[in-house]
Amino acid sequence: MEKYSKSAINNYNSLFYSSVKDAFLEGQLADFFVKIDAISLAFAKKIEKLIPKDQVRVLELGTGSHFSRWEAIRNEETKKKWEVVLTDFTLNSLPKVIKSTSQFSFKAKKLDVLKPFPKNSVDVVLTTYGFDSVWFPEDIHLERKDGKWYEGRYKFEVSGKRKKMILEALAKGRSLGLFLTDFENISIRKKLFPTDLSQVKYKKQIEEYYPAGDIKINFPGGLLAKVDEAFEKMIAPGGVFITGDMAVNSKKGVIPKNNYMGEVEMKDYMTSGKVAKFKVEDYGLAKKILEKKGYRVELVTVEEFIAKSGQEIPLRVVDHLVMVVKRTSLGG
Ligand SMILES: C[S@@+](CC[C@H](N)C(=O)[O-])C[C@H]1O[C@@H](n2cnc3c(N)ncnc32)[C@H](O)[C@@H]1O
Repeated sequence: MEKYSKSAINNYNSLFYSSVKDAFLEGQLADFFVKIDAISLAFAKKIEKLIPKDQVRVLELGTGSHFSRWEAIRNEETKKKWEVVLTDFTLNSLPKVIKSTSQFSFKAKKLDVLKPFPKNSVDVVLTTYGFDSVWFPEDIHLERKDGKWYEGRYKFEVSGKRKKMILEALAKGRSLGLFLTDFENISIRKKLFPTDLSQVKYKKQIEEYYPAGDIKINFPGGLLAKVDEAFEKMIAPGGVFITGDMAVNSKKGVIPKNNYMGEVEMKDYMTSGKVAKFKVEDYGLAKKILEKKGYRVELVTVEEFIAKSGQEIPLRVVDHLVMVVKRTSLGG
């Protein structure tokens, strides 16, 4: 009998991203961050400003198969040379065609964010929709009701003729020959388990941030761990970590349901397109914790991010945030 686990949804997502031929086609995933040129150019301008060097080295996590962001950046005038490494957990999910120029050199590599980062030396680690798609061991869906804490865990229920094959594929997180329609036969079951948070490294900070009331939050423990690891192993002095995602800054009210002292609610996960699952994480809390650890953190909505880059805002969007993390002399 399959057990409930925190990470079950990873296998479901991995199956989709690595095995389904049309995963990245129009309509299958939100492509907001890679398709809107003003956002791409805002990333480029931010990076040019933060890294005052003639040559900037960028490593992107969970790139996906679209090259459109980099095409938009590459087509802009730039004084710098860019060395960009695009990564994803399978070569299947990376762009098929990438074109370097004299100013821009691009490479594509396999990098699984669930594994330890390799040693590297880059100025920028960048990702969009990267952390919401992966359930890291440190991530946790937490609910507090009447003063008691619970954590969410998940398992699958599969129906239909191909049940055995689908269950096997789900157990491995990889398969060949899966169709989009197979996912219609998979449902995710959730169960809440009582917890005292004692296994959560940032228990104190979570309780300080949310001192009272009923809450349902996706705690971004994985993001916090990976930021530390990226600065330890990959980001050169003066470098930055940038993540863009659909996320929540509950204290600033950027959340659908946000009477902070009373109720804060983030769904366990939502669906992008028809299949892929993603979680909306608490970036406001992540910022607070990172700042306590000695990082300098800028957290803005995508609209603010574009406006700050000096461009017109082409669309209204308040639920997508960009977080820029730098090390300070206090450490991190
Ligand atoms: C929602 S897509 C985002 C794609 C693109 N960055 C964007 O902004 O549209 C999530 C990406 O994470 C990748 N991914 C899933 N699991 C991963 C893992 N364990 N390590 C690295 N990337 C992973 C997927 O292949 C996919 O490209």
